[in-house]
Amino acid sequence: MAFNGTALADVSLPNKVGGMMESGVHERSLIDFDLHVGEHANHDTSHRVKVKVENVSFWYGEKQALENVALDIFDHEVTAFIGPSGCGKTTLLKCPNWTHEIIPDARMSGRILLDGRDICAADIDPPALRRRFGWVAQKPNPFPRSVYKNVAYGPWLHGLIAKRSEADELVQSCLALAGLWDEVKDRLDDPGTELSGGQQQRLCVARAISTNPEINQSGN
Ligand SMILES: Nc1ncnc2c1ncn2[C@@H]1O[C@H](COP(=O)(O)OP(=O)(O)O)[C@@H](O)[C@H]1O
Ligand SMILES: [Mg+2]
Repeated sequence: MAFNGTALADVSLPNKVGGMMESGVHERSLIDFDLHVGEHANHDTSHRVKVKVENVSFWYGEKQALENVALDIFDHEVTAFIGPSGCGKTTLLKCPNWTHEIIPDARMSGRILLDGRDICAADIDPPALRRRFGWVAQKPNPFPRSVYKNVAYGPWLHGLIAKRSEADELVQSCLALAGLWDEVKDRLDDPGTELSGGQQQRLCVARAISTNPEINQSGN
């Protein structure tokens, strides 16, 4: 797939004891959030910082899930958070797009800058902020609508498509980018939930990229 943005992935390491995700406390081998995929072993210094995480701690009620995490996520790179189950990878993935706002009793401290702007600034509009992110959950969660509508709904809602022909084109290109077009081109009116598990996962990728987000996030 053509990659032209920022991607964040959350990868569990099986058979390890879970522990909180902290900066500079655990050993590097336990939590290594600098895996960069591509030609360069390390990030390209011409890439700018897209998301800057500064001393972020996070609590679900009384339970602390992140402690003083700090890292830079670069534009045009794939960054993976790798660590044992329960150490806070998905929590860290949720923080930049304010997903925590909809979890009762969740609280974050520290700062996250997106393109240099504090995501908690008073004038930030959470829905507008979230639109800049594409989220693919670990467990496929297609809308209970047709394959076609799963992909076309977001762009239609955001006014990115006005005509049926534009929607047709966008649906085809997103499904093709997600590697699903050939398998579903004759099933566009079938419910997305009737596809196989792997096809549903790719449908969710097609849906996530349909609104052209700047940052793609995926769990496992
Ligand atoms: N909605 C929630 N309410 C309470 N605790 C949660 C919630 N989501 C996650 N946790 C807890 O926070 C910790 C980190 O979870 P998570 O970020 O999902 O870890 P990972 O993705 O690394 O497996 C775990 O102990 C988990 O049980
Ligand atoms: Mg997770």
